[in-house]
Amino acid sequence: MLFSNTRLGGKVHDLRIRDGIVIRIAPAGTLEPEPDEEQLSGGWITPPMAEPHVHLDAALLGARMPNRSGTLREGIANWSVLRATLTAEDVAERALRTAEMYAERGTLSIRTHVDTGNLMAVQTLVELKPTLAAQGIQLEVVAFPQEGILRAPDRRAQWEAAVALGVDCVGAIPHFERTTEEGWESVRLAFDLADQHGLKLDFHCDETDDPHSRNLEVVCAQAIDRGYAGRVVAGHCTAMHSYNHPYAEKVMELVATAGVQVVANPLDNVVLQGRYDRYPKRRGITRVDELWRFGCTVGIGHDSVQDPWYRLGQAHMLDPAQMLVHVGQLTGEREMERVVETLWTENHLPFGALPSITEGGAARMLWWPVDTAVALLIERPLPRVFRG
Ligand code: FE2
Repeated sequence: MLFSNTRLGGKVHDLRIRDGIVIRIAPAGTLEPEPDEEQLSGGWITPPMAEPHVHLDAALLGARMPNRSGTLREGIANWSVLRATLTAEDVAERALRTAEMYAERGTLSIRTHVDTGNLMAVQTLVELKPTLAAQGIQLEVVAFPQEGILRAPDRRAQWEAAVALGVDCVGAIPHFERTTEEGWESVRLAFDLADQHGLKLDFHCDETDDPHSRNLEVVCAQAIDRGYAGRVVAGHCTAMHSYNHPYAEKVMELVATAGVQVVANPLDNVVLQGRYDRYPKRRGITRVDELWRFGCTVGIGHDSVQDPWYRLGQAHMLDPAQMLVHVGQLTGEREMERVVETLWTENHLPFGALPSITEGGAARMLWWPVDTAVALLIERPLPRVFRG
């Protein structure tokens, strides 16, 4: 297959792929089509996108028990009912269907949280990893204790059992524990467990409008003291929206020093946060622009795909990117470019290295029919996906 006059990085090239390999990258206008070779002209070739934060165990369940109020509270209540009814076949079927929705829309690396309140679901998702890998989709699993680990006697044991099932990351939800101190304790226990198993960490961290929810600083301090730079993600961090500015600056400096990546989830949080406000209503988004200015690494998650918390979504990563541009007021030209490029750059960091497209390497890439980030936000087209 030949791509002619196609943007790749900052330049326009010709590029040829054959049998899943990039066999030639040449100056634009220099490669001639071969007989029977498919040819695409113009457009933009990028690495595949990555999804750093979704809940595949709950995906596509929203219609089964509609959330009448649209609130986080009813979402959690509905999930606890639905969770008890899950079967391995149901979890696997919805997870595979959702993963394919991601792949068809250009996302080939997916990190899913899975509620440790159902060990069968954890086991099912861990076992799907080789199936998805055979389809060119990388899956990472986070053992996520949706209801905390210290609120009831059996929850910590379930969480530890889930981690032992072969997950990639230890999760926790410190702001949901009973007390501030128990929240901090849950962070330390998560690091202990990650140490024991040699795993990465991925927190649901301060997903609240309460400016007194201050777990991110503890996550950062632990990451620094235990040498976890680059191996810790803090998701949501919406309390930072409401922190006073001197405190927010202290925390953002810590985030940068600790090498902790903040993952914003603008689709869910713009509808789930601010629910205790009358007017004005807060936007429910972490401080992406300011985190950038502090040199922090930021990712963008879809979080929910038609689940009990967020009834919408098609697993197209340009949707949370578009929402982030709006609610984060990131409509400057360079800001929009950074948001879109995050999908195939910083969003990959939780999985390891950044992907690249090189001669002799796998043709694991996307071809977009437009060649600028802003056009991607305007049109939100489907890419041609090459899984390598
Ligand atoms: Fe989440």
